[in-house]
Amino acid sequence: MSPPRFESVHTVHAVPSAARCRIAILGVGTVGSSVARRLTHADAVRELELTQVFDRRADQKRLAHPDVAGVSWTSRIDDVLRGDADVVVETVGGLDPAADWIRDALLAGKSVVTANKQVMARDGERLLRLAARQGRQLRFEAAIGGAMPIVRAVADGLAGDRLTRIVAILNGTTNAVLSRMDATGCSLEDAIRDAQSRGYAERDPRLDLDGDDARAKLAILCAVAFGLRVTPADIAVRSSASVSVADMDAARRRGATIRQLACASCDADRSTLTAWVAPTLVSRHSLFGRAAGPQNAAIVTGAHAGQVGVFGAGAGGDATAVAVISDLVAIARDRAAVVPPPVLTRPRAILGFDSSSDFTLQTSDFFLAEAV
Ligand SMILES: NC(=O)c1ccc[n+]([C@@H]2O[C@H](COP(=O)([O-])OP(=O)(O)OC[C@H]3O[C@@H](n4cnc5c(N)ncnc54)[C@H](OP(=O)(O)O)[C@@H]3O)[C@@H](O)[C@H]2O)c1
Repeated sequence: MSPPRFESVHTVHAVPSAARCRIAILGVGTVGSSVARRLTHADAVRELELTQVFDRRADQKRLAHPDVAGVSWTSRIDDVLRGDADVVVETVGGLDPAADWIRDALLAGKSVVTANKQVMARDGERLLRLAARQGRQLRFEAAIGGAMPIVRAVADGLAGDRLTRIVAILNGTTNAVLSRMDATGCSLEDAIRDAQSRGYAERDPRLDLDGDDARAKLAILCAVAFGLRVTPADIAVRSSASVSVADMDAARRRGATIRQLACASCDADRSTLTAWVAPTLVSRHSLFGRAAGPQNAAIVTGAHAGQVGVFGAGAGGDATAVAVISDLVAIARDRAAVVPPPVLTRPRAILGFDSSSDFTLQTSDFFLAEAV
């Protein structure tokens, strides 16, 4: 008997331009330029068509990115708001004016994809409600974990569970620094310089090392996973900036290493949340101990499925662009999707560092994550 033939599966049908989802990008920096390149290159996603690019230095950026061709460049936000884009990608960063532009784009009837954790941590609930009222979508996978699809995993893939805990590496810069110290025995300062030379760290990496970036991301995850409204400043934090060569040596002697972990445990019966970000002792062989460079990782625990893990590139333009484009594809595939507004409550209490059974408080400043 001859084997079945599947040639027709490979037939590629051109997507008529009218059926494509028109995209405008705000901010052509590290992430925005990667998204623009992907959308205008040979491996462009068929459903997506980049039509407009906005940047405060549009003329300079256009010259710097000759490969992003066939699109209209502007430095006037109103051109985008009044333009024909179906979806606006916000890769400007910072709180203002990015938050206003997301709001204005939604009010103009456009869906929005953002990579902005600061805006989502401060205004996410309000903006998601606006998106729902407008019958549009606001997606933000790129705001947390770069290419690691943690938002989708928690919001969709595990929507059938009752989630109780998230433990994660959420800051690629700090992970690059700590994993470099571990691998080479160098000082924190040398590891920061190395991360900067590789483009993994800003000139001032304090927001990363001190835990503010991870707190903002953890607050967003608390909303998505537990339905809890959490202000990042309410999450307990210990800085990773004081991790020394001696700390790393001591960890190594115990078969462990040090990573910045973000942890949130929800006790729904008592309406309490335990949440913290801190440098933490983890087993070298654990998912977290194996995360090197700017990688991120997360273990999500549910009442029914137990532990589920995700792992991947936590930063970088091309990796983060994957998360942005995945959100664009989700919108393009179902533009009329009805996304209900979030229903969030504030926990009765937010507790800080604990010495629960999995995380044994050590005599040093670090925790030992025995379970992971
Ligand atoms: N980089 C990553 O690996 C990464 C990973 C995950 C998420 N994200 C998030 O992605 C967003 C963008 O990050 P990025 O690293 O791509 O930043 P970036 O390289 O600084 O790019 C921002 C772009 O927006 C432009 N811009 C800034 N303010 C503007 C304004 N007021 N009006 C018009 N244009 C303005 C900038 O212009 P200039 O060139 O003139 O400054 C730049 O082109 C942030 O929310 C960030 O947190 C980044």
